Amino acid sequence: DIIPVILSGGTGSRLWPVSRLSYPKQFLPLISERSLIQETALRIAPSYGFAPPIVVCSEDHRFIVAEQMRQIDIEPAAILLEPQGRNTAPALTAAALVAQAAQPDAVLLVLPADHFIGDEDGLRQAVLSALEAAREGYLGTFGMKPTEPATGYGYVKPGAAIAGHCHRVERFVEKPDRATAERFVAEGYLWNSGMFLLPVAAYLREVEQHAPEVLATTRQSVTEAKQDLTFLRLGPSFRQAPSISVDYAVMERTDKAAVTPASVGWADLGSWSSLWEVGDKDADGNVVQGDGFVIGATNSFVRASGIPTVAIGVDNIVVVAMEDAVLVVAKDHVQQVKDAVTLLKQDG
Ligand code: GDD
Ligand code: MG
Repeated sequence: DIIPVILSGGTGSRLWPVSRLSYPKQFLPLISERSLIQETALRIAPSYGFAPPIVVCSEDHRFIVAEQMRQIDIEPAAILLEPQGRNTAPALTAAALVAQAAQPDAVLLVLPADHFIGDEDGLRQAVLSALEAAREGYLGTFGMKPTEPATGYGYVKPGAAIAGHCHRVERFVEKPDRATAERFVAEGYLWNSGMFLLPVAAYLREVEQHAPEVLATTRQSVTEAKQDLTFLRLGPSFRQAPSISVDYAVMERTDKAAVTPASVGWADLGSWSSLWEVGDKDADGNVVQGDGFVIGATNSFVRASGIPTVAIGVDNIVVVAMEDAVLVVAKDHVQQVKDAVTLLKQDG
């Protein structure tokens, strides 16, 4: 079976003030009437032939996750609770150990809870076409054609063709600097989408080889885990896991990675400019939501809830107004919104 693993540990600080620590972006209806995690779970629902998903999230969000899954009639195989966020390598490794105990030859479909997919049929097809390589023991990535030399993504260099539309990964580089990213785009590298198709045994072997401390601490935390209703609380050893992403811990180091190029209208909804990009635009390129209005504005994003908010004559601006906080930021500075969250936290 293909067991989806939904990673839902992000804090979404670049989407402040709509996304808050207590209620981060993946639980919000940012692009449809459903939340991002609900859209994610429905995309690979059991009705499409996938096994029920494993969701990995923080203790703090357990009731939100359970309630949001209930609302869409999805019953997760497990909701794994982290006592503390340790980034994606420990989160995914915990899910892999739990999946392996139930089904030693499972293949995991790893999905971040905060991505937009325009062509969901296309995604499911890409997964099926990557399956053959996964069965042969390759750790599958999905490669997206870069539209700019972004530095917030991993880059994969496709090599020799293997099964299906799949290629071996010749090189995987996580978050290169700008100059390197420019070179990679010119040389035909693809963006790593952050979705993975992982044969569980092969994945765990690679973790053991390249990040043994991640495996040891996480395995210990699974041994200590306590079942609590639908939740599986990972034990205290999880706090000792190195805080590292699967991209650095495994994907950059393994020689068993494969990439399936996929053109499925993918976007990581990480910042306000990405929400502007996937949003419905008026004739002047503005995305206007809720109580927002524009007069003579261009290429801007105005979202307001509770207070009428008007942007006049501006270009390339993001305005987000909530009843207790307002953000105004140039669209090419949206990565710095997380600094606002840090600043406000320091101020108490
Ligand atoms: N459960 C859990 N615990 N989930 C986590 C944790 C954690 O500690 N940390 C992050 N996640 C979740 C996030 O919520 C997100 O859904 C996913 O894992 C990826 O984490 P990000 O922090 O968003 O990673 P990124 O965007 O910087 O980079 C990854 O995605 C890019 C594409 O969007 C990498 O895989 C890059 O290589 C890739 O290009
Ligand atoms: Mg991300």
